[in-house]
Amino acid sequence: MEKTIEQIKKEALKELEAASDSESIKALSVRYLGRKGAVTQYLRNISNLPKESRPEAGKKANQTKRAIDELFKNALKRLEAPSYETDNRIDVSLPGRVTRRGSLHPITQITQQICDIYIRMGFDVAEGPEVETDYYNFEALNIPKNHPARDMQDTFYISDNIVLRTHTSPVQPRIMEKQKPPVRIIAPGKVYRCDSDLTHTPMFHQIEGLLVDENVSFGDLKGVLTTFVHQIFDPETSLRFRPSFFPFTEPSAEVDIRCVICKGNGCRVCSHTGWLEVIGAGMVHPAVFENVGYDTTCYTGFAFGMGVERIAMLKYGIDDIRKYFENDLRFLRQF
Ligand code: FA5
Repeated sequence: MEKTIEQIKKEALKELEAASDSESIKALSVRYLGRKGAVTQYLRNISNLPKESRPEAGKKANQTKRAIDELFKNALKRLEAPSYETDNRIDVSLPGRVTRRGSLHPITQITQQICDIYIRMGFDVAEGPEVETDYYNFEALNIPKNHPARDMQDTFYISDNIVLRTHTSPVQPRIMEKQKPPVRIIAPGKVYRCDSDLTHTPMFHQIEGLLVDENVSFGDLKGVLTTFVHQIFDPETSLRFRPSFFPFTEPSAEVDIRCVICKGNGCRVCSHTGWLEVIGAGMVHPAVFENVGYDTTCYTGFAFGMGVERIAMLKYGIDDIRKYFENDLRFLRQF
């Protein structure tokens, strides 16, 4: 034999170092490992060696063959991997791709703004369950079973005694059962009604307010709601209190805000009245106080429930409430 296997390997490595492209590495692989290659020839010539040294020489030659093969393959892989210098699919002069940041949903933003206004007026934030018992959603609020007032809200029933709450008012008796007056809370959250058009969605958000103490009057209610409306919109915004009926308040009122979309001239959002109803309110009915064990001779209070989507519609000039829940990014990115 003319050359040892180590010599062949040494030469192969030297040539590999000098090879600068994949074509020359492939050619080297043929020259060393191909059918007529140096390593293959060496392996073939092992049969000419004395019988006793053949196994050891064969083993060593095969190991070397595998080592050289791996070195060639790795060198090829390195050359073929994309790099800034060689891969023209990457244009390093382009600006980087910016990951878009999400933002709070407009309803969440408005809810926070509304809560902040009431928190500054001294209200605490309370919560109640969205899946509610018939008792808290209706009966504790002076709406007995089979009473026609239940028709005011199209209810999703889960079973005879369990409903998806139709308003945030059940938080009122829940809080009063746990806490003695004075009480001053707001309760934001989702509510559900079988309702759908330009100004109604089956799921929407309300913020309940409840204030109970000695000598609370309807004047206090008007003052708190007027302050709220002037802070969330602007001090020039007109609002009006309309007599209304809720079984859990007496007297009751509905608060309308001058439609900002048509400036009061009348449009499809305000049903051509120039006003949009956003808040239901009134003085807490004595029957509700009795249900939670409050002394009606000492305490009076007021409560209100406002529709967050309606307030957001007026604030942002949105003419269809359903846009809030279509998840169209072109709409959502504007907030
Ligand atoms: C109530 O839900 C009473 N619980 C409010 C209340 C609380 C009165 C405390 C007295 C004392 P009403 O059904 O009117 O009332 O709803 C209140 C507000 O929720 C409405 O003024 C309106 O802004 C909003 N609203 C009602 N239904 C929908 C709906 N389907 N989609 C969007 N907003 C709605």
